[in-house]
Amino acid sequence: MAAGALLQDYLGKVEDTIMEKERPGDLVTVADKESEAVILDCLHRHFPEHAILAEESGNLGNYQNEYLWAIDPLDGTTNYAHQYPCFAISIGLLINGVPRLGVIYDPLRGELFQAAMGLGATLNRHPICVSQTNKLGKSLLATGFAYDRRETLNNNYAEFCHLTHLTQGVRRSGAASIDLAHVACGRVDGYWERGLSPWDIAAGVILVQEAGGKVTAYDEGPLKLYSGKIMATNSIIHKSLSQELLQVPALNTWGQN
Ligand code: IPD
Ligand code: CA
Ligand code: CA
Ligand code: CA
Repeated sequence: MAAGALLQDYLGKVEDTIMEKERPGDLVTVADKESEAVILDCLHRHFPEHAILAEESGNLGNYQNEYLWAIDPLDGTTNYAHQYPCFAISIGLLINGVPRLGVIYDPLRGELFQAAMGLGATLNRHPICVSQTNKLGKSLLATGFAYDRRETLNNNYAEFCHLTHLTQGVRRSGAASIDLAHVACGRVDGYWERGLSPWDIAAGVILVQEAGGKVTAYDEGPLKLYSGKIMATNSIIHKSLSQELLQVPALNTWGQN
């Protein structure tokens, strides 16, 4: 909550602090760094023996520790830098490498999503569950595009076009944690993306699972948190979405002509 208040305070005031990281368009601001400092301080005080993987600080402690916190202090930095009102804080706890607890806080909407293994998922402490949409053709999906999209043909553009054609729409919020939270509470029926990091998705994975959804790799195999690829749905449309995503590379000629 303190980090959320900080993000709201800084909103519209970070222009002079915006910097690019390794790639054009991959931004970081003073708000990312200070939000992370607030969260790290809290975790160090309460769980000094746990390891942390935080977007702006990297690995802190032994990442092979049984307990690893995956922290995105500001998910949706590009939105934030442009004052586009869609960003969140995402904090997940991995136990032996598996997401077991997650918190996603969207300060502008005042929405706090929480989940813990076996205890269900909540939005502002009210139980939530995934949608009942049973056909891809009736679904609304979400996706995103990684910062390396200019450098690779494997950039999700073809998948986006293909699924836009087959569904009622594909949204791009610019914040992976919000996309996953919206799968969990049924606002979208499914989400896929590549090029992600564990801090983008650790909290959202357990949130979707505890809300009754399914989270896997594109081929429906077990999710590999460090692979960057994720597919999360209400579980009913999971197989259909997987089939479509798997056939896209064969259709993919984007950028080759
Ligand atoms: C990004 C957002 C975006 C996704 C990118 C992420 P950041 O995180 O989640 O939606 O498409 O791949 O890197 O940099 O704003 O924390
Ligand atoms: Ca992120
Ligand atoms: Ca971030
Ligand atoms: Ca970032």
